[in-house]
Amino acid sequence: MKTSSLWGAPQSRYYRFLQRIQEVTESPNPALAVIGCADGKYVLPAARKGFTVWANDIDEVALFGGTKTDASGEVLMPGLASRLKSEGLEDSVEVVHGDFMENCPDRTFDAVFTSGALQYSNNLHHTLEEMVTKVGSLVRPGGLLYIDYMLPYEEKYKGRPTCPDAGWWKEYFESRDEWDVKHNRVMPPTLDRAHVEYPVDHYHQWGHLLAERVRA
Ligand SMILES: C[S@@+](CC[C@H](N)C(=O)[O-])C[C@H]1O[C@@H](n2cnc3c(N)ncnc32)[C@H](O)[C@@H]1O
Repeated sequence: MKTSSLWGAPQSRYYRFLQRIQEVTESPNPALAVIGCADGKYVLPAARKGFTVWANDIDEVALFGGTKTDASGEVLMPGLASRLKSEGLEDSVEVVHGDFMENCPDRTFDAVFTSGALQYSNNLHHTLEEMVTKVGSLVRPGGLLYIDYMLPYEEKYKGRPTCPDAGWWKEYFESRDEWDVKHNRVMPPTLDRAHVEYPVDHYHQWGHLLAERVRA
């Protein structure tokens, strides 16, 4: 039975990313880490294609199910583990609860993906540089890193040290010779449809960065 995420469905660019990972690895089961995976919007599509996924989030309800309360009232969230069970994909995905800054495995992956997690307010005790360096350290040489980063468009993100302008991202990746930036696209503000935790249609401004680790 196919399940769906309360965060919505991935964009077509995510499927192009999965295809690109398959092209840089000879394994029929590429290893992908999804940091800040919530209830699996990006995890299940990869697992269905044969990827082995390390899926991490600090939010226990998103991983294992429960009730969330937001402006729309109470929302029942089945959670990632239950979705995997329903689709018979438990063996392909390691679900890890905790802060990625403290719970990262000591192995590397063919690819690492993270979307909108670094800018969360619970991460303000880290610098963005520390977090991006940690996430990047999980990518094997020759592997790929994809980060959807939030830009300071909404009032609440303006001035947040972990939500700098696009120039910060360009400088970080271009000043390190371990990365070859494949694309770094700054999108215009876009309408994101209502999803759990943000139950009204809303505007965000995103950047999409894809880089290959060219050396250890
Ligand atoms: C914007 S949500 C996106 C969720 C998911 N990427 C998606 O779009 O379906 C970011 C997620 O990152 C998680 N997160 C934030 N800080 C984290 C941390 N330090 N360690 C692990 N997960 C974290 C949040 O709990 C949240 O589920």
